[in-house]
Amino acid sequence: MDTFKNLEIDPQITQILGDFNLPDELGFGTVMSPIMIEMDYADGKWGQMKLIPYRQLTLDPTAKVLHYGQEIFEGMKAYRANGNGPFLFRPLENIKRFNLSAKRMAMPEVDEELALEGLRAMVSFSKDLIPIQSEASLYIRPFMIATDIHLGMKPSETFKFMIVASPSQAYFKSDSVKVWIETDNIRAAEGGIGAAKTGGNYAASLLAMIAAKEKGYDQVLWLDAKNKVNIEEMSGMNFFAVYENNVIKTPKLTQTILHGVTRKSVIELAKHKGYQVEETSISYLELLKDIQSGKCTECFACGTAVIITPIKSLASESTTAQLANDYGNITKELRQELLDLQEGRSEDPFGWRLSV
Ligand code: COI
Repeated sequence: MDTFKNLEIDPQITQILGDFNLPDELGFGTVMSPIMIEMDYADGKWGQMKLIPYRQLTLDPTAKVLHYGQEIFEGMKAYRANGNGPFLFRPLENIKRFNLSAKRMAMPEVDEELALEGLRAMVSFSKDLIPIQSEASLYIRPFMIATDIHLGMKPSETFKFMIVASPSQAYFKSDSVKVWIETDNIRAAEGGIGAAKTGGNYAASLLAMIAAKEKGYDQVLWLDAKNKVNIEEMSGMNFFAVYENNVIKTPKLTQTILHGVTRKSVIELAKHKGYQVEETSISYLELLKDIQSGKCTECFACGTAVIITPIKSLASESTTAQLANDYGNITKELRQELLDLQEGRSEDPFGWRLSV
């Protein structure tokens, strides 16, 4: 059994986990592990980290998070496919990004080792709830909210850090998605908060997502706010396009794109497999033309929740382009390689897997 030297463990935890019945149908992010991590910040420092029974929060109606959106989160997974593991995948990458988000949103950073201990504890105690089918996992959601009770517009001085976890099946039911290129609304602008994983970025994407769904599309692809030309990201997913001659392109990182851990891993994996990866500006009009002419052969989205998800078509107000392959070979290969690594079926030359 792991030791968790910085963690106070509620004595009810073992019984609560023992009494918990995991439903057959999990869906994504619906069923929650009956335990959670909680840690409060006040007087300029973090208090004791605690593993406690999952419970409702009691918040004052004037808590700052409810009015001014001072909030950040992460998404990560623990894997136990075929009874291997459990494994966490590059957890420090997520913790570092959490702290970058914290900085941008004027919130306190968490100690990396302490956050890792909290994650390990959630995985270790929830071990028997982690599904063993490939592509299913324990989806883990660390997050932090501002809790000052005050309607004045100033940064909070008290915060709550929590980790909850959801035994989940794959995010998308369908194999490939239809994508709407949004040329009207924007997701994030230079100097804003696009690279921070904060709720406001996701809230900002919802209206366009509703409109895209009404038109028969599954996801929205965002363009740069200034010129509405270059492809950025897909709210919860980064974008990749596969070209002829083993070239793979993805939008270069800016302040307006979330720096995806899966994105980074796909780039490193693809390079390792001998593909030429270009982090570059991708004009959506060029891309649509390249798909129509057959120069671009596959497109996919990637993210922790969605793994690697093939794209079958992209459309904007003016043009539609259908990928020749709903689910191209390179997309398939990278997806399988990534899952094999995450789920512990392959060697891990990168040292990305952390056994819990
Ligand atoms: C993740 O991939 O973990 C995300 O944050 C996407 C989420 C909004 C479902």
